[in-house]
Amino acid sequence: MRAAPTPDPSIDVAGLVIDEPHRFRVDGRVHTDAHLFSLEMQRIWERSWLYVGHESEIRQPGDYRTTVLGRQPIILSRGEDGSIRAMFNRCMHRGAVVCRAERGHANHFRCPYHNWVYRNDGTLVGMAQKSGYGDSFDTSEMNLVAVPRLEVYRGLIFACLDPEVIPLRDRLGPTAWYIDQWADRSPVGRIAVTEGVHRYQYPGNWKFQLENGVDGYHGNYVHESFVKILNRSGDRKQQEVVRTRNRVGSNNCAKGLPHGDGLLEREDGMLGTFDYASLDDYRQALVETHGQDRLADILTQRNILIFPNVYLFESHIRVMRPISPTSTLVDTIPTWIEGIDDALNTRRLREHERFFGPSSFGATDDIEIFVLNQTGVQAEAARWLDFSRGLARERVGKHGERIGHSTDETPQRAMYREWQRRMLVGEEMAS
Ligand code: FES
Ligand SMILES: [Fe+2]
Repeated sequence: MRAAPTPDPSIDVAGLVIDEPHRFRVDGRVHTDAHLFSLEMQRIWERSWLYVGHESEIRQPGDYRTTVLGRQPIILSRGEDGSIRAMFNRCMHRGAVVCRAERGHANHFRCPYHNWVYRNDGTLVGMAQKSGYGDSFDTSEMNLVAVPRLEVYRGLIFACLDPEVIPLRDRLGPTAWYIDQWADRSPVGRIAVTEGVHRYQYPGNWKFQLENGVDGYHGNYVHESFVKILNRSGDRKQQEVVRTRNRVGSNNCAKGLPHGDGLLEREDGMLGTFDYASLDDYRQALVETHGQDRLADILTQRNILIFPNVYLFESHIRVMRPISPTSTLVDTIPTWIEGIDDALNTRRLREHERFFGPSSFGATDDIEIFVLNQTGVQAEAARWLDFSRGLARERVGKHGERIGHSTDETPQRAMYREWQRRMLVGEEMAS
């Protein structure tokens, strides 16, 4: 681990999130300040479990994929023994990436610079013109460096740069139950990601995407044109969609969970997602494997945020990668449900593309909002962002989770409480 950075004395980290009984505010500099961004990377991103990939992407021995852990390049690979490894994609000679492809199948990685060769478990097995190093040069310490921690939950691969981090299952806590419902949309309990990636980069802070994925307040306004299209096509009546979204007194809700996790939950479907409830054969298959008593929980539509870098949406996994305070890369990765008809999966995919794809009616609206957000917060004199919506009607559930109306800012508050807690833990360690 690198040494903790010296805090910028002009910024009081404790004063960036103001959590009062009837008001919750966040200082807009959390989206603009370069020093805070570097603290976030070190105090949050380098010490958290981060989603790095899915087991289905490296199914066979020899399969690999490259990605980043926070901002550090890594290789995930499945060895001959079937186990998954994560190692830094950095040659032990002079630091070039040893694997340039995003995914593939290989027994070895050959560094493009001076031709050092590593087995897919990271062991150095060849050096070009080796005699130049003499007999005393010890190659046993020149294997690719393993990522300190790697664990898998329900096919989701997480890694962490901090060797002391708590076990993944402990970190997930009550969020694991929601991941189970998400994965058990499959009658065989397995989701796969094999349908490619839609990647976009927006000129805004990473936390705007986090705030938005569990924001049930904006849909009627930001996605109004999509609702009108649904109306015109006869899919769903505009008034019905608006009524469903705004209704108070249903099980629709937004939740704030421990560790900054959160979710948006709607029992009667969400815009741009697939209506499973109407498919009798599919429901029957779920009942046979998972039991009738779990059906309603499994079919409830959710956007699940696992802080700080991944969302599980009904139709896809969404991964956030901060590039700078004002630049973020997002991977939207459609899911395939194992154990159901390909035709049904194809219909899901088309539905997904309609709302979340590159030329969709939904995700593109949100990206425009992130740009407006980033532009607006440059007016630093106005200082505060308000996240008070629903504070007065929030309640505490049986696992300690906070529950609000689906249009409330309950998950965003959970996220910023954790953000501040983690940033302050770093402060104590630095001092
Ligand atoms: S940098 Fe990899 S072989 Fe030289
Ligand atoms: Fe949206």
